[in-house]
Amino acid sequence: MSYYKIENLEQYFKAYKKSVKSPEVFWSDIAEENFTWYKKWDKVLEYDLTKAEVKWFINGKLNIVKNCIDRHLNKKGDKTAILFEPNNPEEPTQHITYMELHERVCKMANVLKDQGVKKGDRVCIYLPMIPELPVALLACARIGAIHSVVFAGFSSSALISRINDLDCKVLITSDGSFRGNKSLNLKSIVDEALEKPSSIEKVLVVNRTGTEIQMKEGRDLWLQPLLDKAPKDHVAEVMDAEDPLFILYTSGSTGKPKGMVHTIGGYMVYTAYTFQTIFQPKENDVYWCTADIGWITGHSYIVYGPLLNGATTVLFEGIPSYPDHGRFWDVIDKHKVTQFYTAPTAIRALARENLSYIENHDLSTIRILGSVGEPINEEAWHWYNNHVGKKQSPITDTWWQTENGGIMIAPIPYVTPTKPTYASLPLPGVQPELMDERRNEIEDNQVVGSLCIKFPWPGMARTIWGDHKRFVETYFTAFPGKYFTGDGALRDEVGYYRITGRVDDVVIVSGHNLGTAPIEDAINEHPAVAESAIVGYPHDIKGNALYGYITLMETGEVRDRDNLRREINQHIASHIGPIAKLDKIQFVSGLPKTRSGKIMRRILRKIAEGDFSNFGDTSTLLNPEIVEEIKDERIEG
Ligand code: WT7
Repeated sequence: MSYYKIENLEQYFKAYKKSVKSPEVFWSDIAEENFTWYKKWDKVLEYDLTKAEVKWFINGKLNIVKNCIDRHLNKKGDKTAILFEPNNPEEPTQHITYMELHERVCKMANVLKDQGVKKGDRVCIYLPMIPELPVALLACARIGAIHSVVFAGFSSSALISRINDLDCKVLITSDGSFRGNKSLNLKSIVDEALEKPSSIEKVLVVNRTGTEIQMKEGRDLWLQPLLDKAPKDHVAEVMDAEDPLFILYTSGSTGKPKGMVHTIGGYMVYTAYTFQTIFQPKENDVYWCTADIGWITGHSYIVYGPLLNGATTVLFEGIPSYPDHGRFWDVIDKHKVTQFYTAPTAIRALARENLSYIENHDLSTIRILGSVGEPINEEAWHWYNNHVGKKQSPITDTWWQTENGGIMIAPIPYVTPTKPTYASLPLPGVQPELMDERRNEIEDNQVVGSLCIKFPWPGMARTIWGDHKRFVETYFTAFPGKYFTGDGALRDEVGYYRITGRVDDVVIVSGHNLGTAPIEDAINEHPAVAESAIVGYPHDIKGNALYGYITLMETGEVRDRDNLRREINQHIASHIGPIAKLDKIQFVSGLPKTRSGKIMRRILRKIAEGDFSNFGDTSTLLNPEIVEEIKDERIEG
């Protein structure tokens, strides 16, 4: 990407100014110079943010997989595209070259076609972090099918609701998955999900763990024999820039998860450009992002961004604590990792362990450190800087969201001076704005406001699958004509942004975005539960943890509270997933409510935090006496 290469602050400001003054020129220069298109676009951008309508590279024709793989084959056919590091360090690493990846993707594409998958069909992918996962994504994109990855830690009900929301006909899964010294029977979760009525006709199963599983005749097929028979050539489908590439769910503050739709052209240009700008790949680099491909970070910065740049991307199946807490450092040392991108929650967990885990590994190959998923607190930042980067590698604290497609606000390594807890400056093409409650722009420093983006960027989601109205209401209504992020932020005197956290009912737990409403819905289904309110509170490792206030049905029956707590968490685990389990459950005789019946969460949040200093205005409460009770019985620790 020679256009707008940014090697110093002056170049950054120049590129930034250009991107604001002439966004169409800025992005079309990048799109034209760096990718292969079958046909160039007629128009760069059309938009109306009040209606949440955005189109980039209109009538441009392309295939993103041609750009991820085929065009590198000439020069980089033998270069490792995917470096697979298995859960068990004794199992050999796999180096999958661009040539091999091409063959595997073409074969998978042919299998999918053979199973009746056509352009525009949705394919659900429920796989652990094994090579078949990126191969499946790319195979879908190659034939023009829309992939929807469901994180393999999600429960059967989360899986089935996503499958049916999209009418997926084909599901790709595996017999099981490895996680440290445990293995999980994924296929049994799939079987449970498919006991409910569903759109699924075929389930393709990867053999990973060798676990004994049930195969349902006529529905389930082992994938490998089909791949063995499939031709290794495949002509990529010609796609429109605005055809959907994938759908990925993110939780909202209300209702069911939102299927965010990303389209091919804009997403390709944006992830490639941001990967290049932030991670600055060189020919022999080994880049490692520790996220799971079940989340947007994995889509954009394990699969698409790196491959579009012809980089070597590490695919890690394991966990940071197996076989011991030195695993990350061992992998970095073993593969000479040059860019390392992880989450604050992992950093905080590893910072608690003995320094010897890190000190007996050579991390000197690292040039750039990244952080993503939640604000990185100062202590974790310094630990990362001192012990992983040895004060030699800049930390890029990257702020962005599932809805954004790629990194939005982040320091550019070796260009933007870093300041702990500040995500710093917007990337070129990103126009943030802070708004106050009266919908006026905040010009002052150090004033927290609602973070909005006032101009379209190519990577932004285009809609919520099947519900454009909800898309408009969620993101484009609070501040008409702007995209509202749901985050609060402030700016310092030099214009650096600091993200202060969610301003809605979404809590980021260990970097996972959890809506409290869907968890409450799940709990309320438990027969013993009358009502519930969930809030987040600060947690040393996870960033935030969940505190649930629950009222019980009056049955006259005496129940063991600890049993009930376990049952409720079980219920959450099976309805949403183990990541949404509550850390503290307080049974209360009532919830503080306003006269209009709204739960006053602000008070519950303060109690959960242990801050009894100022509950603000409680005059609208119907039952102010309940606050004392809840406070007195707060769960400590
Ligand atoms: C929310 C989006 C971006 C991929 C992973 C999460 C929070 C994310 C940062 C950061 C402060 C951050 C925000 C955002 N967040 N990165 N560097 N500093 N907060 O994607 O699940 O869609 O969550 O994560 O609150 O809104 P997501």
